[in-house]
Amino acid sequence: MLPILRSVAALRGEVAQWRREGLRISFVPTMGALHDGHLSLVAAGLREADRVVVSIFVNPTQFGPNEDFAAYPRTEAADVAKLEGAGAHAVYAPSVEEMYPAGASTTVTVAGVSEGLCGTFRPGHFAGVATVVAKLLNQAQPDVALFGEKDYQQLQVIRRLVADLDIPVAIRGVPTLREADGLAMSSRNAYLSPEERATAPALHRVLQETAAKLRAGAEADAATREGIAAILAAGFGSVDYLELRAADTLEPLARLDRPGRLIVAARLGRARLIDNIPVYSVMP
Ligand code: PAJ
Repeated sequence: MLPILRSVAALRGEVAQWRREGLRISFVPTMGALHDGHLSLVAAGLREADRVVVSIFVNPTQFGPNEDFAAYPRTEAADVAKLEGAGAHAVYAPSVEEMYPAGASTTVTVAGVSEGLCGTFRPGHFAGVATVVAKLLNQAQPDVALFGEKDYQQLQVIRRLVADLDIPVAIRGVPTLREADGLAMSSRNAYLSPEERATAPALHRVLQETAAKLRAGAEADAATREGIAAILAAGFGSVDYLELRAADTLEPLARLDRPGRLIVAARLGRARLIDNIPVYSVMP
């Protein structure tokens, strides 16, 4: 049976035992409602280490006051069964009180990469993410931690956090797992009605069309404006942003003169969907 650890002490005890055995440890942080995208992180973790710990914690500090913290799907029993099937070795599922005991007063903010994109539309979100990820990494002290490229800005925030705070862990980014029609797998896809679900793949299709224009030499401003119009025409309610950024620093790019990332967030019904793809200029 997969052990479910509820406290920092229980997690540390399990990890300490593995350390005594000389084992290498991977860590996969999640908020649960697990799908195959999450399980692909577990598979990547298994390739990197002898033991994989998965955390399930719906982190209140990364949700804004008008966001979906209360509604966020909580499916622990099903999640644990999936993790057992995927070959994980332990689940860390602390309560909110265990993670944030009374008196907790420290927030980690990562300037620069946290600003713009989702940082503009979800104030405080990346501080909540950086704080909980710093805590999780200190609690588990893994050799490797795995994060999805699906949340590309989050991945860059975490890379910066770990470098700046000298946290001794290797961060690995894992490519986005998609449904057959291109929709990026996400726990929030559960919010979509059947009709909205049929509309949703337009987001990835527009990313690909926009990338093709950029590779052909289009200005980012014109290409992304056309892309936003196409997303709205497909039936999305609104587009928070569609932008071309530098793949590593997330600086805005006017055109594809270095490796880029095309990043989008848009609203469909009560879901806010995000996606991104790499865009490289064709070498001369
Ligand atoms: P959550 O949304 O549950 O995602 C957990 C991890 O799974 C993240 O690293 C995310 O990028 C990755 N992931 C989600 N969908 C994916 C997909 N389709 N393909 C590949 N990977 C995917 O992201 C969070 O939780 C939280 O912010 C967290 C980092 C746990 C901090 O609370």
